[in-house]
Amino acid sequence: MDGNGRWAAKRGLPRTAGHVAGAETFRRVATYCKEIGVEYLTVYAFSTENWKRSSEEIEAIMGLFGKYLEEAIRDMEKNRVRIHFFGDLSPLSEPLRDLCAQVEEKSKTFEGVQLNMCINYGGRDEILRAVRAWGENIAAGECSPSDLTEERFSGLLDSAGVPDPDLIIRPSGEQRLSNFLLWQAAYSELYYTDVLWPDFNEEELEKAITAFHSRSRRYGGTK
Ligand code: FPP
Repeated sequence: MDGNGRWAAKRGLPRTAGHVAGAETFRRVATYCKEIGVEYLTVYAFSTENWKRSSEEIEAIMGLFGKYLEEAIRDMEKNRVRIHFFGDLSPLSEPLRDLCAQVEEKSKTFEGVQLNMCINYGGRDEILRAVRAWGENIAAGECSPSDLTEERFSGLLDSAGVPDPDLIIRPSGEQRLSNFLLWQAAYSELYYTDVLWPDFNEEELEKAITAFHSRSRRYGGTK
C-alpha cells in the first residue's frame, strides 16, 4: 500500500494524513475484493524495515491498525472475513497483539474470503524463521535435512495453507518487491501502477485484473 507519504506531501499534509487516507482506501478495496469474489487478499501494511521511520509516524500507523482491528471485531458477524496475520508480531504493543489474537481467533471459522495482513513482515525474516523452525525439528530428531520439500517448507511459512498469490499489485510507481512474499511470489504476475495508494480504487483494481487476464502464465513451460 505504497505512496501514502507522497500523497500527503502533494497536499501539504503530514505523512500521517496519507496513512489515514490509505487506511480508508484499504477498507474500500477490501470490501470490493469481497464483492467480486477474491478469495485471498494479502496487504503489506508494515514491513520489517518500516521501523526506521519516525516514532510519530510508527505510532500513527499502529494506531490505525488498532482502530481497524477494533472495527473488525465489532463488525465480525456482518463481514464474515477470516483474518490472518503474516509477520513477527512480537515487537508490537501488548494491546495490539491482543487485538490481533482476538481477530484471528474470532474469525477462524469463516469461509470464503481470507484477508492476510502483513505487519512487521519481511520475506527474508519469514524465510529465516521457517529455516530456524526446521533446524529445531532436525535437532529434536523429528526429521532429517533430506526430508525437506517445497511443500513442507511452504508449510513452515506465515502463509502456510494459503495459495501463492496470482497477482501482486504495487502502486505508486516503484517497481520492486521490497521484501514482500519472496518465496510465494515465484510465479506471481506483477502489476505496477503510478497511482498512489490513497488514490487507488475499484476502477484501478479492475484495470489490474484485466491486465492479469491478458497474461500468459507458463510457469517455466511452453504452453
Ligand atoms: C507505505 O507508504 C505505507 C505504509 C508503510 C503504511 C501502510 C499503512 C496504511 C495504509 C494505514 C493502515 C492500514 C490498515 C490496514 C488499517 P509510504 O509511507 O512509504 O509512502 P511514500 O513512499 O509515498 O512515502
